[in-house]
Amino acid sequence: MKELIDKLYLNKELKSEEFKALIQGRTPELAEYLFEKSRQVRMTHYGNDIYMRGLIEFTNYCKNDCYYCGIRKSNSKVQRYRLSEDDILICCQTGYDLGFRTFVLQGGEDSYFSDEKLVHIITSIKKQHSDCAITLSIGERSHESYLAFFNAGAERYLLRHETANAQHYKMLHPPNLTLASRKACLFDLKQIGFQVGAGFMVGSPFQTVDNLVEDLLFIKELQPHMVGIGPFIPHHQTPFAKEAKGSLELTLFMLGLIRLLSPEVLLPSTTALGTIDPLGRELGILAGGNVVMPNLSPVSVRNKYMLYDNKICTGDEAAECRFCMQKRMESIGYQVVVSRGDCISLQ
Ligand code: SAM
Ligand code: FES
Repeated sequence: MKELIDKLYLNKELKSEEFKALIQGRTPELAEYLFEKSRQVRMTHYGNDIYMRGLIEFTNYCKNDCYYCGIRKSNSKVQRYRLSEDDILICCQTGYDLGFRTFVLQGGEDSYFSDEKLVHIITSIKKQHSDCAITLSIGERSHESYLAFFNAGAERYLLRHETANAQHYKMLHPPNLTLASRKACLFDLKQIGFQVGAGFMVGSPFQTVDNLVEDLLFIKELQPHMVGIGPFIPHHQTPFAKEAKGSLELTLFMLGLIRLLSPEVLLPSTTALGTIDPLGRELGILAGGNVVMPNLSPVSVRNKYMLYDNKICTGDEAAECRFCMQKRMESIGYQVVVSRGDCISLQ
């Protein structure tokens, strides 16, 4: 098994049977071997630096009904909110003062935020903070919309593919959502010139080891600049309320494999990882991650953007989250930096 890790380290790819053997045959000892390599690769490209992104959850309205998601449209118990442009600009200013140089605008698929409104928001943020990067994470839109956002100054886009297997995709989403359309959006975004982030949940209902291998092969094919992965965590008001959550151990192993597969990729240690284990985000960095995403959303809306149960940091002010993260990273020998944190291939 260690030879397979060496092979992945050297060649940056493996055959699907080899990935499958690694995932199925993983042991704590093998994981430690993998993480030594993944940390080494990470160190080569990014040193001890950890990039920070300020996450602004600006709307929890969504027209979609993904079976796993706490803010899906059928969840009538959610108190819905939208931040105004002024609210968003205040979040950015607070973030800027705290050293953030990337803002991630994330939300449900909310048609209230027309292209025109979003272009205005992007332009206003850029006017005030021309040295900052803007990442959008607002789901599937048309080519024209993506182009308008890009031309307005948004340079990154996060759109997890969720699973690279079409059958599995159908088990996680209602029939109007398809893997084909998700993938088309990702290739479209790339072609427009966005730095693109794909990704998936680990341990989502019905997921098999073969599916995880397909996820890795899709990452190799798409060559995204970022890969966001985190454990699936059930939300009590969704169809998947009774499903088991994804494991910390498997999520960390997948992070390690992704670092070897795409050495220069931006790899966040996610909030979901911190939710299933108090030290999850530290462990994600030690498995090869190099990005953290503290929350910049106003505290008044934090507990309304509940994608899954027991989400952490819902009561904390932006400054608390930022300094908490700094301490956590320092405790394992890393440092958060004031930087846009572009992918090394673009610097
Ligand atoms: N609407 C945008 C989209 O679909 O890309 C962005 C918001 S969506 C809530 C962001 C991500 O949250 C999804 O890509 C999904 O992987 C993750 N997510 C949703 N529900 C989750 C759950 N129950 N457990 C873990 N992650 C979840
Ligand atoms: Fe739309 Fe989750 S179903 S953000």
